[in-house]
Amino acid sequence: MDFAPRIVDWQRRHGRHDLPWQNTRDPYRIWLSEIMLQQTQVATVIPYYERFLQRFPDVAALAAAAQEDVMPYWAGLGYYARARNLHRCAQEIARDWGGRFPPTAEAIATLPGIGRSTAAAIAAFAYGERSPILDGNVKRVFTRQFGIAGDPTKREVEQKLWALADAQVEAAPGLDMAAYTQGLMDLGATLCTRGKPACESCPVADSCVAKREGRQAELPTPKAR
Ligand code: ADE
Repeated sequence: MDFAPRIVDWQRRHGRHDLPWQNTRDPYRIWLSEIMLQQTQVATVIPYYERFLQRFPDVAALAAAAQEDVMPYWAGLGYYARARNLHRCAQEIARDWGGRFPPTAEAIATLPGIGRSTAAAIAAFAYGERSPILDGNVKRVFTRQFGIAGDPTKREVEQKLWALADAQVEAAPGLDMAAYTQGLMDLGATLCTRGKPACESCPVADSCVAKREGRQAELPTPKAR
């Protein structure tokens, strides 16, 4: 099996399927969860997510609120720029998109504070769009799987990784993009960890360059200092 179908298979068997933002295709709910999860762990996010949605159930409710009415619902989560950008996004969606969430990853990435990978994750979960993600955890998976040396925050290395991310999706027609995207995130967070990767449990270990060459500890290449 190719890379991507093995990730999907693993996610179906071993991943989580019961989180409050899974089993919805509402882009508003998915967007909110992705922003909250950017720098905060799942267990911390869940009660904030539920309270936020009760008070602001859709884009219109959030756009209509004053920013000072939004901030209390974020208090304790930290990284408050996320909440200010969330509110600005809602106002932009109300004003420029007729209140409907933008329909593609490319359009989502034009919103304040939303990068290419977060936009792709939202579009994959909400619309099944075939746009790959490449966040910090996924960069670690790809540098190891394909043996890519060099600091992955550097532009030329990052471009290589985006090309590889694209190629995995291209090679897999009919791929379940929600399961693939979640599987990549979960693999990077749980097995392909920085310190001691659990290669014995990894669904893509048999094609992993780092594993074959014993370079798990060298990849990804640390920032030069
Ligand atoms: N971190 C960012 N997005 C996530 C998601 N969908 N599930 C778990 N952790 C995440």
